[in-house]
Amino acid sequence: MRRRRRHRSRLAAFFPAVAAGALLAMLHGCHQEHRQSALHPAGPAAERIADLWWLMLAVLGGVFLVTMLLALVAILRHRRSSEPGRPVGQWFIVAGGIVLPAVILVGLLIASLFTTVGLHPPGEPVTIRVTGHQWWWEVEYPEQGIVTANELHIPVGRPVRLELKTADVIHSFWTPNLHGKMDLLPELTNTLVLQASRPGVFRGQCAEYCGIQHAWMAFEVVALAEEDFVAWVEARQQQSPDPTEPLAARGREVFTTAGCNTCHTVRGEKAEGEVGPDLTHIGSRRTIGAGLLPNNKGNLTGWVANPQALKPGNKMPRSYLESEDLHAVVEYLRSLQ
Ligand code: CUA
Repeated sequence: MRRRRRHRSRLAAFFPAVAAGALLAMLHGCHQEHRQSALHPAGPAAERIADLWWLMLAVLGGVFLVTMLLALVAILRHRRSSEPGRPVGQWFIVAGGIVLPAVILVGLLIASLFTTVGLHPPGEPVTIRVTGHQWWWEVEYPEQGIVTANELHIPVGRPVRLELKTADVIHSFWTPNLHGKMDLLPELTNTLVLQASRPGVFRGQCAEYCGIQHAWMAFEVVALAEEDFVAWVEARQQQSPDPTEPLAARGREVFTTAGCNTCHTVRGEKAEGEVGPDLTHIGSRRTIGAGLLPNNKGNLTGWVANPQALKPGNKMPRSYLESEDLHAVVEYLRSLQ
């Protein structure tokens, strides 16, 4: 008896600690900058989806509370009386088990349909072709003649029409702040029209398991004010000037002699490989390895030296470059703005 009491008091001390821990974890989540959150919408489609989510939470939360309350009443009644409980009336089963669920589910179905119907924003869209690869995103602006990877720059307040394809297996494009998910399927082009209502950087993620590095198939959507978007497009349409700095110039040679050009494209160079991402503007990109690491000199050097150590299973082999050549090629890549 005493042991049991001690056990109970230990449990009693344990539960508040767990509850406090859980609350702290939740509050910590609240302090993040909400770059990847369906509950902090940054566009009309995501707003509608978030509204539906809150509606469902309220209705189903209400159902849960009422059910728990009824269960509690039943338990307490049963404890108080020694007689076997009276069965509930048939009307209660019909109302609570058939009519009420039917009304609630049909109501939520109608709300979902209305949400889906209203997801297409009107206006002249910007078209972006996104192709999923194991494990990165090819991003092409056909009207502007730009090819990049793992990041989408879009203008605020204008619809962006995404044409989604895959080069291999099924992937899924998801930027929770801007829209719901859309799968990228073999032999098929799916479209998704999203729109950002404020500038910001929103993180996206492949949302369909696609192999060992599925978790590191991330991307960013950079929403820019119209004039900043136009400036970004104009800058990307230019080719980087030939490197004048000796180390970068040597890196340009190494890029070809080491065979980087067989897998990568650099527009205007003898580099038209299509296995890996287009590197025409790699120096201006925000991340490397599809959201794996910030794009800076140290990370890029590590990546070129041994990408298999950073993202095992990706298609880029170890480079085995001499130290000087490694630094030269990184300098060249960083010059590609
Ligand atoms: Cu691509 Cu998961």
